[in-house]
Amino acid sequence: MITLKLDLKSDYEKGTDVAAKLLKEGKTVAIPTETVYGLAASAFDDEAIKNVFIAKGRPQDNPLIVHICDEAMLKRIAKNIPDKALECAEKFWPGPFTMVLEKTGETAISVSAGLNTVAVRMPSNKTALDIIRKSGLALAAPSANSSGSPSPTKPCHVEADLDGKIDAIVFGENCEVGVESTVVSFCTNPPRLLRPGAVTEKQLRELIPDLEVDKAVLASLDKDEIAHSPGMKYKHYAPKAEAYLVEGDSGEFCEFVNSKKQAVAVCFEEDKNISINKIVYGNQKDESSLAKEVFAALREVDELGVKTAYIHAPSKNGIGLAVYNRLLRATAFKVIKL
Ligand code: TXA
Ligand code: MG
Repeated sequence: MITLKLDLKSDYEKGTDVAAKLLKEGKTVAIPTETVYGLAASAFDDEAIKNVFIAKGRPQDNPLIVHICDEAMLKRIAKNIPDKALECAEKFWPGPFTMVLEKTGETAISVSAGLNTVAVRMPSNKTALDIIRKSGLALAAPSANSSGSPSPTKPCHVEADLDGKIDAIVFGENCEVGVESTVVSFCTNPPRLLRPGAVTEKQLRELIPDLEVDKAVLASLDKDEIAHSPGMKYKHYAPKAEAYLVEGDSGEFCEFVNSKKQAVAVCFEEDKNISINKIVYGNQKDESSLAKEVFAALREVDELGVKTAYIHAPSKNGIGLAVYNRLLRATAFKVIKL
């Protein structure tokens, strides 16, 4: 398959028109969103959705998020929506926030991977919204990476993983947020945080004081435990190198990695005294800067071809919790406490 490259810089209207037309024809198109790039297909077209699973090599039992641009689409896809969910939509949409709701049955079976619920999000990225609007469709879109590899935050990441496997890539801007949306299930009482993201636990608690945080956010599930968010049970975001998450202050971290001559340190700007190879992923005190670059840094680890990576663990404050959650999976829960 030859993947069409749609360059928005030369002609935004034409690029988004072509993307929408392809989606209406049942094609698979990678699009930018504010969180990560998504691999979109019509949420109503079972064949198209199957092609998304095939292109990513995604396990069949891991459901997709449906992207919408207005309330009419929400009502078409989900039913019996609790008032709390509507309040959250009012506050956090459009934006990096996904709600798991009871499904109507309008979307293709494979979108929900056999569950009776559906995950819905209204993105804030202009290109994503314009493409949804122009297509007139709700778009199912998982992250546009090969299943298991770090999520794509730049169009070149999508190209590296999916060129030749999907119909088109929209070359938009780099993603502002850098980690995937916050996922909350409203199908449990009280509602449950399944995946942390840029909409933080603190912000959610202002509307949902009794919010539960799923065990899978900070711990690995036992073999026989049910994953409330099927995506959480898979090895994820992992570089090919053996990676470790390292907790400690800057002095401790620098001293520790300096004895590992063959490895790479994935570190903060503040970690000045490192004498081995290093990849800086942001400022320790600014968790948003870490979120924005964490996946690109994991990809860089593999470009260096090193066998081992030591990643300086962020705080779990605000969006830091989302970064920490992704790094736990990228390192298969291998945490070193200094
Ligand atoms: O920011 C995002 O959410 C990005 C962009 C493209 O919008 N999308 C994304 O999709 O991260 P994906 O497929 O990589 O992650 C979807 C997550 C998975 O962990 C999946 O298990 C969970 O949402 N999910 C989807 N439908 C669900 C459902 N019905 N019940 C529980 N979890 C669900
Ligand atoms: Mg993903």
